[in-house]
Amino acid sequence: MKNVIIACDFKDKEELNSFLNKMPNKRPFLKIGMELFYKEGPLLIKELKQKGYKIFLDLKLHDIPTTVYKAMKNIALLDVELTNIHASGGVKMMEYAKKAIDEVGSSTILIAVTQLTSTSDEALKDELLINTPMNETIKHYAKNTKKAGLVGVVCSPLEAPIMNELGLISVTPGIRFSSNNADDQVRVSTPALAKELGSTYIVVGRSITKADNPVEAYEKCLKEFL
Ligand code: C5P
Repeated sequence: MKNVIIACDFKDKEELNSFLNKMPNKRPFLKIGMELFYKEGPLLIKELKQKGYKIFLDLKLHDIPTTVYKAMKNIALLDVELTNIHASGGVKMMEYAKKAIDEVGSSTILIAVTQLTSTSDEALKDELLINTPMNETIKHYAKNTKKAGLVGVVCSPLEAPIMNELGLISVTPGIRFSSNNADDQVRVSTPALAKELGSTYIVVGRSITKADNPVEAYEKCLKEFL
């Protein structure tokens, strides 16, 4: 199951294709997020699947359980390998999302976002009025995820050991080669460290998409992580 997922943070299909054309003989696992999906729609996903790419559709659903259930049914029809919802939507919302996938009979793996890495300890306390420390919140949300029947979470590689203990898979962004700078990521790990910490999937964006030689960078990730 372990794999490297390339975060395709591109503005449209043209930009995506010009990146994919730099790796014509590869069929990597791609993360398609809101930016591309809201621009290009489900058709893009169907095209990529037809070409043999594996897809993590990163749409982070968060709404009332019935709405998430109905939306997830449409996502499940796309038969992507991975997709996600927000654990903060609650156990019932997560159960409804899982139920939608099961009813469609899709093999899509459903995971949850615990706390966004952009939420600081201060924001958690002062804006969201959550007085429980960040780590405890993350662990509690992960337990809820499991309770709802989901198999894993999106988290930092540094949290992968906790998720392993809970029997959850971890999909971990915030990856940099030691030689890169961190850009806007705060807590970063190398692919090798993510492996050591037990991540199931690493999500790598700019370290591959902005590399002079994306194929070389992708292969370096595979070599270090697998
Ligand atoms: O370019 P970089 O490797 O930093 O990209 C990481 C990707 O993972 C981006 O698409 C970002 O939105 C996503 N992500 C993240 N941290 C999270 C969840 C998603 O960096 N907690």
